[in-house]
Amino acid sequence: MSGAEIDRAVALLKAGELVGIPTETVYGLGADAANPQAVAKIFAAKGRPADHPLIVHLPGAKHLDRWAIDVPDLAYELAEDFWPGPLTLILKRAPGVLDAVTGGQDTVGLRVPGHPVALELLRAFAVAGGSGGIAAPSANRFGRISPTTAAHVREELGDAVALVLEGGACAVGIESTIIDLSSGKPVLLRPGHISPAAIAAVCGVLPAAPTAAAPRASGSLEAHYAPLTPMRRVESGRLLELLNAMRHSGRRCGVLAHSQPPQAGFPHAWKMLPAEPVGYAHDLYAALRELDHAGVDLIVVEAIPSSPEWLAVADRLRRALAGAGA
Ligand code: TXA
Ligand code: MG
Repeated sequence: MSGAEIDRAVALLKAGELVGIPTETVYGLGADAANPQAVAKIFAAKGRPADHPLIVHLPGAKHLDRWAIDVPDLAYELAEDFWPGPLTLILKRAPGVLDAVTGGQDTVGLRVPGHPVALELLRAFAVAGGSGGIAAPSANRFGRISPTTAAHVREELGDAVALVLEGGACAVGIESTIIDLSSGKPVLLRPGHISPAAIAAVCGVLPAAPTAAAPRASGSLEAHYAPLTPMRRVESGRLLELLNAMRHSGRRCGVLAHSQPPQAGFPHAWKMLPAEPVGYAHDLYAALRELDHAGVDLIVVEAIPSSPEWLAVADRLRRALAGAGA
């Protein structure tokens, strides 16, 4: 990443344009969080409903005060341990934070991303007199698979994004853990790489599950992260049976698996992911995208273990299954 590319990105952000930004989780579609016209372009480019709030990305925790008020000590403690990193905190919004960013709610989502290119951009944007905040949802069309490479962003959004900064494949591969601290006690709005146990190690309590009154999170919609191809989940032991049935009826399958194919020369697109949750999460969206482009009639997902380490992956798979083929 050259300094000239960063300078160009900063100039575009200041001019109210959109920039594709690598983060350690997924690529974001960034705009100046203090510019209402720029933020409106995010919603237009994604086809995203206007009442879905955006995460504001900051160069460091010392910028929190410009965006949030009544920040509890716990927020600084979590920031100390996990920022820069894949954790988003929901806090009470400061006056002046755009309604378009918060979805009109009295809270705002904030995160310091752990990717060198994102951090360099955020720092340069702040130094150049920008607001210091870049609003960035995942850089996919609404409801679709989040991008984990710069090429995915171009594939999703084409000309709608002025520049996509190259940052390689995302290290984590699924979106940040979201913890709501706006009510005093931590609530887990979206599971991610940072586990409930890791949050509890700092907070002293496990984050609670969201209640019906919890703030809206589009990542919490049932159908999300979804391919256009229909998907079906099947237990490992029944995989062969389903694939044989599909073959006999002349339908082609792609398989998202974590076990070896049952025999050599198996006639299905077999996408083998690591059999542990960190590696699986890293590869998940690229694999789904590849299977979605493989020209198959059905994506068969081999069921994953139900143990707590798989929580975030299970969440993304469940939503992909709910939205697939739509
Ligand atoms: O890892 C990530 O968080 C990525 C990268 C680009 O940072 N971003 C991301 O953004 O996943 P997006 O817009 O796809 O998902 C952000 C989630 C949404 O579910 C949104 O509703 C929720 O954060 N969110 C943002 N502000 C919120 C608020 N004030 N209250 C509740 N949820 C909020
Ligand atoms: Mg998203």
